[in-house]
Amino acid sequence: MSFRPPKGTDDIIAPRSQAWRESLRVWEEMTESYGYPLVSTPIFESTDLFERGVGESTEVVTKQMYTFTDRGGRSITLRPEGTAGVLRAYLDSGEQGLWKGAYSGPFFRYERPQAGRRRQFWQLGVEYIGSESPLCDVEVVELGYRYIASLGLAPVTLLLNSIGDAKCRPAYVDQLREYLRDREQDLSEDSRRLIDRNPLRVLDSKADRDQLSDAPRIVDQLCEECASHLKALKTGLERLGVPYEEDPNLVRGLDYYTRTAFEYVATGLDAAQNSVGGGGRYDGLAEAIGGTATPGVGFALGLDRIILALGDPERTHLDAYLVSEAGPEEALEVASKLRREGVSVDFDVDGRSVRAQFRSARRLGVPVVLVWKGDGHLIDVQTESERIDLPLQEVPDWFDKA
Ligand code: HAM
Repeated sequence: MSFRPPKGTDDIIAPRSQAWRESLRVWEEMTESYGYPLVSTPIFESTDLFERGVGESTEVVTKQMYTFTDRGGRSITLRPEGTAGVLRAYLDSGEQGLWKGAYSGPFFRYERPQAGRRRQFWQLGVEYIGSESPLCDVEVVELGYRYIASLGLAPVTLLLNSIGDAKCRPAYVDQLREYLRDREQDLSEDSRRLIDRNPLRVLDSKADRDQLSDAPRIVDQLCEECASHLKALKTGLERLGVPYEEDPNLVRGLDYYTRTAFEYVATGLDAAQNSVGGGGRYDGLAEAIGGTATPGVGFALGLDRIILALGDPERTHLDAYLVSEAGPEEALEVASKLRREGVSVDFDVDGRSVRAQFRSARRLGVPVVLVWKGDGHLIDVQTESERIDLPLQEVPDWFDKA
């Protein structure tokens, strides 16, 4: 067959999809326990939303958007990120005051594809809208951290910075630009191009890291409000036992951030895609997209990268494989009974030999094999360490005890 998924996109199939599904399950549970209801917004939006929200000088807007004109002549863009859309939805709903939402779904950026850098990728995100309190930042940062930890992804480093606000950042940016101009000839082509347009972005250039080691740091020049916000965030994380590292060069790739910026970095992945998630505060975004001033903070995690960092998936999440000595029809009936009692089980529908059925069980790597002999209600339960006969109706209980 000559059809393959388009460049930079993936089919998510088993066994990888098991880890995918499990991660989504944990995501639903955790966001619910932190009080974030589901928010789902359109996969495409008006192009302006991202131009104005994400920022016209960002790479996302200048190079990575999937933009097209629809049949009604409107410029439409496949969402490259979720914050602008969620905030638009909040403003549009007429809601006021504190508001929380959690989302999960596909996003699109025209990137040069590699492992963990895809053209269609999956984000899990939350937004906490309506308050300037640094406690929102603490809660959000902690949620992302605990989620990643609960998947068993380690080691992950939380990097933290403040990039100031409209009051203190402009003076810093001028100073940084000056500093960069003085060293222009030592910088990479990419960085040189950014000096006028977006000098902050030069700070996270990997190629120029050594040349920038003595660059002025924004954390040293924060206004009083930004400094105390950062301090409260750090204190809050310490009280919750969330470890972090301060990174004065962390600036993020989207223009809407104010004050808090953070990233979760999986140290086991290649540097080009080891940021498994990131976020920050965006107190100016609502106005930038034409709404009334509304503060907010959030993050998004890259599920493709998380799954990559989790490594080789388990082969199966089945509780058991059902081997039938009495043909597939009876197996289907027995499997149905077990499934209705919450035991996840599969069997061979083709009625192959018992030996072949055991081979399937081994190949799947199930922890338990159930052998149905067709003799009324007894089932032979085989694990590595046990072999017992049980009446069929007791099998579900046995799994609870196992
Ligand atoms: P972002 O840093 O652009 O932030 O993306 C968040 C995460 O999405 C990244 O850390 C990465 O794991 C994943 N990601 C981004 N692009 C790709 C890609 N091409 N392939 C695979 N994974 C990717 C945002 O999108 C902000 N909206 C986050 C946020 C929410 N800030 C405040 N609220």
